[in-house]
Amino acid sequence: MSAEIIKVAIGADHAGLELKPLIRDQLIRLGFQYLDAGAPEGTERVDYPLLAAEVAQLVQNKECGYGILICGTGIGMAMASNRFRSIRAVNCSNEIMARFARAHNDANILTLGQRLIGPDLALAILEVFLTTPFEGGRHQGRLSLFN
Ligand code: RB5
Repeated sequence: MSAEIIKVAIGADHAGLELKPLIRDQLIRLGFQYLDAGAPEGTERVDYPLLAAEVAQLVQNKECGYGILICGTGIGMAMASNRFRSIRAVNCSNEIMARFARAHNDANILTLGQRLIGPDLALAILEVFLTTPFEGGRHQGRLSLFN
C-alpha cells in the first residue's frame, strides 16, 4: 500500500512572488504535491488577504493538508488566514519556530516573509515545518480549548 501524497496549497502576494517558485520546487523535492493558488508571476500588486483566504479555505476544507503563504513579512498572511476556523497559521523566521509550531501547536499553515529572510533559510524552514510531526498528548488538549 503506497502512502498518500500530501497536497500543499501555496499562495503569495506581489511581495512573495520571487520565493514562490523556489517553494514549489522544494515541495516536489520533498515528495509533496502542490496547488498554486496564485498570485501569478508578474502580478504587480495584489492584496494579501485574498491569497490568505484562498489557501486557508483549501486547508480548512481538507483539499490540502498544509498551506504556505508568502508576503513581504509573513505577518499579514498569518493574521488573515488565522481568521478561518481550524486554521493554525504561524509566521516563522527560523527552524526552531517551525519545529515547535508543528510539534506543539500542530500548525497547518506556514507564512514566510520574503523581505525578511533569504531563500536558503526559507527553504530550510519549509522542510522542518513539513517533516516535523505533531506530538499530540497534552498539546492536543490545549488545541481543543480554542479550535
Ligand atoms: C505589501 O507591501 C506588504 O505589506 C505585504 O506583503 C505584507 O508584508 C503584509 O503583511
